[in-house]
Amino acid sequence: MNLLAKDKIGDIELILIKNKKLPKNLSKAEKDSLDKYDFDGSGSCMLLEYKKFFIGIDDCGYEFPNAIRDSISQAIQKLKSLKINSISIEASSESELKEICEGFLLGNYSFDSYKTKKSKNHIKEIYIQSTKLTKTQIENQISQSKIITESINKIRELINTPPQDATPNYVANFAHKIAKDSNISCKIHDSKFLKKENMEAFLAVAKASINEPFMVHLHYKPNTKKKVPKIALVGKGLTYDSGGLSLKPGDYMTTMKADKSGACAVIGILEIVAKLKLEVEVHGILGLAENMIGGNAYKPDDILTARNKKTIEVRNTDAEGRLVLADCLSYASDLKPDYLIDLATLTGACVVALGDYTIGIMGYNQKLKENFAKHAFNAGELSGILPFNPYLKKLYSSEVADLCNIPSSRYGSAISAGMFLGEFVSKDLQDKWIHLDIAGPAYVEKSWGVNPFGATGAGVRACVEFIRNIKE
Ligand code: BES
Ligand code: ZN
Ligand code: ZN
Repeated sequence: MNLLAKDKIGDIELILIKNKKLPKNLSKAEKDSLDKYDFDGSGSCMLLEYKKFFIGIDDCGYEFPNAIRDSISQAIQKLKSLKINSISIEASSESELKEICEGFLLGNYSFDSYKTKKSKNHIKEIYIQSTKLTKTQIENQISQSKIITESINKIRELINTPPQDATPNYVANFAHKIAKDSNISCKIHDSKFLKKENMEAFLAVAKASINEPFMVHLHYKPNTKKKVPKIALVGKGLTYDSGGLSLKPGDYMTTMKADKSGACAVIGILEIVAKLKLEVEVHGILGLAENMIGGNAYKPDDILTARNKKTIEVRNTDAEGRLVLADCLSYASDLKPDYLIDLATLTGACVVALGDYTIGIMGYNQKLKENFAKHAFNAGELSGILPFNPYLKKLYSSEVADLCNIPSSRYGSAISAGMFLGEFVSKDLQDKWIHLDIAGPAYVEKSWGVNPFGATGAGVRACVEFIRNIKE
């Protein structure tokens, strides 16, 4: 399916209806037909005999970034099974054009690699035209949207890949391949390296798995002599989270293949930044491991020494993400970045607090969090700031170690988990760090917005938008 800047009417013409205002140039027959369908400008309506598809853009009455994106995405899902070759659409502004492109390209993805019957899409070409924008403007937006959405769809596929295939080794090789095809260097560190780095917390989580853990270090440096901002991204990459000895109940274990979504998002962000040739230096650190059970498993009651020498009492092996991230954040701190961002499907509590569709933003720097939230919104991702406080921090103190890996109360545990992570970010970076809990939006078992069933690529568009707007 190819998006083209072309003044041509397709087999089907998509018409966006805003504020329930139908276009003036409809024929009497078309008007009668719409009447027949009782179409009042909300929802969508197909007029096959006249080759038109009307999409009512629902105004939810408050600022919402995705009205057009979501509608286009729903339209393409409906239209792709029809035997039509082309679609055409008019974009009335730059922001609308961006939403149209992303709606088509993100909405078109579906995960069917493991199905014997693949879903069909007959649509080959989508013509985008505009009386307000130049052909070059349209072409530039199409090529940018293609870069962003192709990476997102690639990592959606990676996250959706079942855990018997998508092992830590598989994800590391995937990252390596992406890096080779873009201008990114990639080092895959095995457990020998993790031992040498004293990453005992990370290693403990992986102990019971037959699949070896890896820490992948991706690095993109732009081709410029200018001093550019340096960003370090850290991603939780649990290719499976069974809970370990604190085993998850069956219902909660399903979908835990998606516990690698943070690491996969980091791969996507690096690929996009490199392809857009952004003038920023970006490091990506992926903590890849599998949390399993076995005779060699780490246990509740173990006391682990993290890379930064802090000791951690394990009271629940299902709070494993923070142990992997503890060592990765300490490693990333040594890179002395200007910004440090971690992405993790860290807590069920964040989903309870914000719902399925919203990223939890945490950290110590209010301005930075607000700035990130603004860019996330502009990119079409929903987020909410969850505030740290010293009372919640007290909840993860331990009688026998420096810290405990679970808080003593379940209330506010998305926040206390975030504050736990902060213990492994170096002192000088506390103000430059943000933690993104993507447990809600990373994987949803129903389609929503531009997202079909399953992995969404949560955090990618938000981070890319934040990174491209960093001003030194
Ligand atoms: N991977 C889970 C968090 C999660 C839950 C992600 C739901 C996506 C959807 C994480 O490792 C976990 O199990 N967290 C526990 C922490 C608890 C033991 C303190 C949780 O949230 O229940
Ligand atoms: Zn867990
Ligand atoms: Zn987990």
